[in-house]
Amino acid sequence: MSNFKIADPKLADAGRLKIEWAESRMPVLTSLREQGKKDLPLKGMRVAGCLHVTKETAVLVRTIRAAGAEVSWSGCNPLSTQDDVAAALATEGTSIYAWHGLSRDEFYWCIDKTLEFKPTLTLDDGADLIFSVHDRHKELSKGVIGGTEETTTGVHRLRAMAKAGKLLYPVIAVNDSETKWDFDNVYGTGQSSLDGVLRATSVLVAGKTFVVAGYGHCGRGVAIRARGLGANVIVTEIKPTAALKAVLDGFRVMTMDQAAKLGDIFVTATGMKDIIVGRHFDSMKDGAIVSNTGHYDCEINLVDLEARAKGKREIRHANEEYTLKDGRHVYVLAQGRLVNLAAAEGHPSEVMDMSFANQYLALCKLAKDGKEMKPGVYELPPEQDQELASIKLRTQGLSIDELTADQIKYRDDYAAGT
Ligand SMILES: NC(=O)c1ccc[n+]([C@@H]2O[C@H](COP(=O)([O-])OP(=O)(O)OC[C@H]3O[C@@H](n4cnc5c(N)ncnc54)[C@H](O)[C@@H]3O)[C@@H](O)[C@H]2O)c1
Repeated sequence: MSNFKIADPKLADAGRLKIEWAESRMPVLTSLREQGKKDLPLKGMRVAGCLHVTKETAVLVRTIRAAGAEVSWSGCNPLSTQDDVAAALATEGTSIYAWHGLSRDEFYWCIDKTLEFKPTLTLDDGADLIFSVHDRHKELSKGVIGGTEETTTGVHRLRAMAKAGKLLYPVIAVNDSETKWDFDNVYGTGQSSLDGVLRATSVLVAGKTFVVAGYGHCGRGVAIRARGLGANVIVTEIKPTAALKAVLDGFRVMTMDQAAKLGDIFVTATGMKDIIVGRHFDSMKDGAIVSNTGHYDCEINLVDLEARAKGKREIRHANEEYTLKDGRHVYVLAQGRLVNLAAAEGHPSEVMDMSFANQYLALCKLAKDGKEMKPGVYELPPEQDQELASIKLRTQGLSIDELTADQIKYRDDYAAGT
């Protein structure tokens, strides 16, 4: 028997079609599901999840349930829930509390509802669920065997909690797996952030000056895709090695103070607050488009922008035009929230296939071994990356070479020189 609060159950048919489409692109996760149906590795588990309600997430939810677990779900961002997908999940028996455009209070209300069934496992994207367990529902932590975390910002928060001695159960940093961080964050965020910018603006990217803040995994993905569409890309950074990589990859690197004057389109991808603030808005060109693809909406300081504005209106979906007191216009996409999820549909299914296969295997690992693991932040074994990547290659009909016995001998022979 499921419980839910969603926008509109009548959207379920449309949601089911979206999920079917995603499923047809997610061979790794669906093959794990087939195995899970037989072995039931999550039998008896109650999984509370707080992660963007997209069609790909629905494929993960179906997989977790097929493996024997009960599930209760909320979205991890007020603007990322796809209402039709939420409706499909609700009507097939998943407890889900999520709708597009909920307020901050409603966001935490939804999380609290998912905790009512006293989870044995938690699954986060940004660590808001786990933080809620530790903060407002500490009594529940005793019943939790372990948790998983999907994104960079969440892993930072959890490592900080562990360092402060506050983390009460083991958590697996799914984000840090090679088959997640080096694929989802780079190619997923790269493509879907451009998709979000384009859906919200439909501008010509070719010839534009495109400023990317942060040249980590996500920023690099955005920069290479923007260049692919013909933009002149500028990168801003605080880490010397990341900045140097951007230079050697052929991008211009400068401070945000310098870039603010030049940019036509901005995408922040740092996970840090106050990347674009008042003095940057003061120097921007009329018509500049500003957006964020980092986890929280604090990268662009909208309070500073509001203070400079004499008016604003929604000019297109997920696109607000601010008219500044001096007459210039600045366009903010998706209210400064994840542009790829709030203005588009999030990452393509193919890339979420590996991220969510990691999520699923992390839950299975915790269900099996979690009780023996001490509180802390753990990583998935690197062999799992190779295993998942080989399944992915196989499903694409691709083969790769294998080391011969002689090559293995050569590799392990420290005496072999010139
Ligand atoms: N949009 C999405 O769907 C999506 C997907 C994955 C991750 N994320 C989020 O995107 C953010 C970045 O994740 P990542 O995996 O790229 O992290 P990362 O650590 O690989 O990269 C972040 C980069 O930002 C740089 N940076 C930090 N402060 C800066 C500042 N003030 N100015 C310029 N650069 C600065 C860092 O030096 C680093 O190189 C996180 O919040 C993460 O949770 C979003």
